[in-house]
Amino acid sequence: MTQIIDGNEIGDRIKNELTESVAALSDSEVTPSLATVLMSDDDASETYVSMKQRACDAVGVNGIHIEIDADSSQEELFEHIDTLNSDPDVNGILVQMPVPDHVDKQAVLQRIDPMKDVDGFHPENVGRLVSGTPRFVPCTPHGVQKLLSAIDVDPEGKDVAIVGRSNIVGKPLANLLTQKGPGGNATVTVCHSRTSDLGEKTRDADIVVAATGVPNLIDGSMISEGTVVIDVGVNRVDAATEKGYELVGDVEFDSAKEKAGAITPVPGGVGPMTISMLLYNTVKATGLQEGIEVELPEPTL
Ligand code: GUN
Repeated sequence: MTQIIDGNEIGDRIKNELTESVAALSDSEVTPSLATVLMSDDDASETYVSMKQRACDAVGVNGIHIEIDADSSQEELFEHIDTLNSDPDVNGILVQMPVPDHVDKQAVLQRIDPMKDVDGFHPENVGRLVSGTPRFVPCTPHGVQKLLSAIDVDPEGKDVAIVGRSNIVGKPLANLLTQKGPGGNATVTVCHSRTSDLGEKTRDADIVVAATGVPNLIDGSMISEGTVVIDVGVNRVDAATEKGYELVGDVEFDSAKEKAGAITPVPGGVGPMTISMLLYNTVKATGLQEGIEVELPEPTL
């Protein structure tokens, strides 16, 4: 029987624990706060940011939301970031990606105070992760790692095929899973659009993580019996629904489920974990900034 991994349930468990961490901070009269910045007209980005803000409310984190016209200048965005950087009542800052083409994405990531960089995308935090002293682990890869541990799948000694080499998911996840220590010790192959025989790589893996943004790229023929399949993709494809689209992953769920030992659905798999780990980083950031030791859901990275 294939296990369908319930990211909503696992993510809610983490959120419940974080609610307790937030309550403990209130004893010190501290309320964590997260600022989200949206500079985009993209519907999906708007949806993601509002989900992040709703999650803040649910655990008692103070959510601040800033919207900037997509055709505003990069300077205007930087002014907002600078204000948030210097505001002692703001603990975490997230600029929703993608930003418009006229904005230098790397410059945006570097503008955010690394102590408030709850995405973990600032080069200082990327360097810390790669060198084995993580501060803020990027939320989606961290969520994938927590999902695996929640279903008692230890990556140690396993062959993992990560499909996708993005800075947001593929690269940090490869670093996390190869790290020496709990939740790591895997042998990782990072596949991408130039990989010569993708199916060979995924069939050889004990764990397949798909993070490409290509709908239904991986089907059942590319999965071996018993493989753990984690689908990070969230793709809108045209469909005769009320909204005119439906969400599908990078994995063709029906055929992959026939082979997989465990598989995440889309939606309801990795997505909720990303949001829980964002709150986790926000609570962690608050503790670091305030010099308070906060209890975080285990295992703490
Ligand atoms: N866009 C898609 N995923 C993410 C994420 O994890 N963080 C930010 N800031 N933007 C994103």
